[in-house]
Amino acid sequence: DTGKRQRLLDAHKIASEFYRDQLLTPEAAVGRAFLQERGFDRAAAEHFGVGFAPQGWDGLLSHLTGKGFTLDELKLTGMFSVSSNNAGRLYDRFRGRLIWPIRGITGETVGFGARKLFEDDPGPKYLNTPETSLYKKSQVLYGIDLAKRDIAKTRQLVVVEGYTDVMACHLAGVGTAVATCGTAFGADHIKIARRLLSDDGTGGEVIFTFDGDAAGQKAALRAFEEDQRFNSQTYVAVGADGADPCELRQSAGDQAVQDLIATRRPLFEFAIKASFEQFDLSTGEGQMKALRHAAPIVANIRDVSLRSIYTRELSRWLGMQFVGEDQVVRAVAA
Ligand code: CTP
Ligand code: MN
Ligand code: MN
Ligand code: MN
Ligand code: MN
Repeated sequence: DTGKRQRLLDAHKIASEFYRDQLLTPEAAVGRAFLQERGFDRAAAEHFGVGFAPQGWDGLLSHLTGKGFTLDELKLTGMFSVSSNNAGRLYDRFRGRLIWPIRGITGETVGFGARKLFEDDPGPKYLNTPETSLYKKSQVLYGIDLAKRDIAKTRQLVVVEGYTDVMACHLAGVGTAVATCGTAFGADHIKIARRLLSDDGTGGEVIFTFDGDAAGQKAALRAFEEDQRFNSQTYVAVGADGADPCELRQSAGDQAVQDLIATRRPLFEFAIKASFEQFDLSTGEGQMKALRHAAPIVANIRDVSLRSIYTRELSRWLGMQFVGEDQVVRAVAA
């Protein structure tokens, strides 16, 4: 009910303010150093509401109970874990971590992402709020509250992997960047993208900017599986040496991040080239197999002239003399 939902939202607001204030404490020096090293100054941290969860077991717990929240209410926030050996007592889920508040499209905090600051700290590098009635990870896009205006204006949505990448993009002038929070860009995200991009009927552009590692490649190919669900043009931008936008901005500056977006390639091109890795293109048989694999992708390109351009590209990539459109059609039929 709406009263309970409002209490949950209030708890998130108070928690995000708590974490934000904690970032100024002596204990949080390591968190501030992390931000500085990543090229994020104090104004940037404030803009994104970055905070710090102290090391203790009940810093947030006592803060929120002090504000009148009951334990039953706090259990529903996802901000606490239940102790198994201590009579089911609650304790802070995020400890000794840098905190990113994750906000809904209208700017209300619905969850948190938390990064550890030392390699040998316990737990995974990132911890997120678990599923709650406010936080549904399949529907969350980190940064959407800050990006929505630019997205609607430019008809472009940039999808990156992480919180630091969203920050780096926005600071570099790419204000259309959002990130999924430890999950694939799925059907619900596509719906959100369509709502923001489709007003002028063209569907705009969605640009995936994933890491150059195996996980990033897999994420791009997973996005391609959903390609027909977008009514946008879909692209991939891959950083030199597989750098993510945050690393790119650190090593090469704001312009390099803008250039990364500018040098995007169609998602289907990425998918075709990735598929070539399974074939031996030095043999005629390997070329034919690769052609058979790539042909349906090319045949599916909706734009007629683009389809014909990529038919020619395909022969070039395969080192074949010439692949005609009829061959593409036949390879699809075979
Ligand atoms: N992520 C997550 N859980 C993990 C690892 C990653 O939810 N155990 C999500 C987070 O949203 C994170 C994003 O994936 O922001 C990027 O992950 P990754 O590429 O592994 O991060 P790095 O670029 O290596 O992280 P950082 O820049 O923080 O060092
Ligand atoms: Mn990665
Ligand atoms: Mn990364
Ligand atoms: Mn890393
Ligand atoms: Mn990174």
